Amino acid sequence: MNELDSEFIKGAIVGGGFGEAQNEYDADIILLNTCAVREMAERKALGKAGLLSQLKEKKPDLVLGICGCVAQQRKEQLFDGLPLLDIVCGTRQIAQLPEMIESVRKTGERQIRVEDLSSEKLDFALTKRNSLIKAFISIMRGCDNYCSYCIVPYVRGRERSRPPQEIIAEIGQLAQKGYKEITLLGQNVNSYGKRLEPECDLVELLERINAIRGIERIRFVTSHPKDISPALIGAIARLEKVCEHIHFPLQSGSDKVLRLMNRGYSLNDYMKLVDALRDAVPSIGLGTDIIVGFPGETEADFAETVEAMRRIEYDSAFIFKYSTREGTDAAKLPDDVPLEKKKERNKILLQLQKQISLRKNRASIGSYVEVLVEGPSKRNPYRMMGRTRQNKIAVFDGGQHLVGKILKMTVADATALTLFCQVAEETLSAPQNKTGQRQSPAYRASP
Ligand code: 5AD
Ligand code: SF4
Repeated sequence: MNELDSEFIKGAIVGGGFGEAQNEYDADIILLNTCAVREMAERKALGKAGLLSQLKEKKPDLVLGICGCVAQQRKEQLFDGLPLLDIVCGTRQIAQLPEMIESVRKTGERQIRVEDLSSEKLDFALTKRNSLIKAFISIMRGCDNYCSYCIVPYVRGRERSRPPQEIIAEIGQLAQKGYKEITLLGQNVNSYGKRLEPECDLVELLERINAIRGIERIRFVTSHPKDISPALIGAIARLEKVCEHIHFPLQSGSDKVLRLMNRGYSLNDYMKLVDALRDAVPSIGLGTDIIVGFPGETEADFAETVEAMRRIEYDSAFIFKYSTREGTDAAKLPDDVPLEKKKERNKILLQLQKQISLRKNRASIGSYVEVLVEGPSKRNPYRMMGRTRQNKIAVFDGGQHLVGKILKMTVADATALTLFCQVAEETLSAPQNKTGQRQSPAYRASP
C-alpha cells in the first residue's frame, strides 16, 4: 500500500511539472511517505525527517514534507517537533501536493492538508510506477473493520471501492504497455464493492480482469479471513490467471485474543477456511500476519498461536510485536506483555516459520515452477530473479532478455526464502495446473 502511495506521490509531483532527482542530496523537494501501523515505523519516519532537517539547515531552499499515515495522525504536532518542516500532507490529499509545494516556494509559509478523510481526488493515470512488468492497483481505500489494535481506519478513513470500469480501464492500459502481473490492493479486498452502484464484488472484478488480454497474473491483497467467501475460493480455483497464493492474516491462534482483537472469527473458522482453500486449490501458497504480545496474551494464548502455525504450515509469515496505537480500542487495555517477552515470542515464531518454509521449499526440489522474470537478483546482480505463482522468490542464471517472460523452471535447490532454479523452457508457458498435489500434509479442521 505504501509503495503504491509513493508511486502516486511521485506521479502527482512529476505530473505537476517537477523532475526526478537521483538522490536526497540533489533534491530540491523531499517528501517522506510514512506508515503509522506500528510504533517502530513511525519512529523511523520521524528519525529520518530529523536527519533531513539537518540537510535543510545547510540548504534552506529545500522543501521538506511528510505525507501519509503519520501526517494524518499527528497533523500540526509534526511542526512542533520538526521546526524546519514545510509540508504535512494527509492520506487523501496527495493530488494537492504540487500546489502545496508551489505555495511553500512562493510564500515560504508552511502548508498542512489533513482535514478531509471523506473524499479523495487522485488521478490514478498519473501513477509513476517503479516496475514495467508488475503493477499494484488500488481497488479500494480505507477500512471499516476496526480491529482493536489497528490505526488504519482512523488514518485512512472509511472504506471506499473504486468503480470497476475505472479499474478495468487502468489495467487495460497497463496490459497495452506490456505489464504482465497486477496486484489488486486494499485493506480488505474481500469486501470490495460494498456500496457500489451497480453492484460488483471481488469475484466479478477478478472475472473481468481475467479476460484482459496481455495480463498473465492476478494477485490480490490483503484478505480478511471473515470475508473470504466460497465463491472467492471457487474463483481462485477456476480463473487461470489468478495466482495460487493468498495472504489472509490470522493475527493470533487464541480465540480469547482474537475476540479482544475484534477479528470476527475463531481459530476453528479459520482452520475450516484453510481446508477449503487447500481442497479447492491444492497448490495454494498461504501467507499470514501474526501479532505477538497483544494485551493480555498469556503463555497459554501464545502456545495456541505456535500450535496453529505448526498445524497450518504457512508458506510465509510476517510476525509483529504489538505496539499501542493512540486512539484505537486496544490502547485502552494495559500493554502488559513486557518487551522482552514480545521479543522472545517474536523470535520463536520467526524460527518456527523458517523451519517450515525450509522444509516446504526443500520438498519442492525437482518439481516445476512457473516464474515471471523481474530483473537481476538484488544479492547477486549476475543472476536473475522472479516469483512463482505461489509468490516465492526464484533465483536463476539467465540474462536481461528474459525480463517480463514467464518461464517454466525446475527447482534445483532451496533455502527458507529462495528457490534456486534452472530454466526448463525458454518459451511462454501455459499457466500451471492448479490441481497439483499438496506439497505438505495440511491440517484438517474438526467438523
Ligand atoms: N501492533 C503490531 N502490529 C500491528 N499490525 C497492525 N497494527 C499493529 C499494532 N498496533 C500488524 C497486523 C497487520 C499488519 C499489517 O500489521 O498484523 O496485519
Ligand atoms: Fe487494520 Fe483490521 Fe482494517 Fe486490516 S482489516 S487495515 S488490521 S482494521
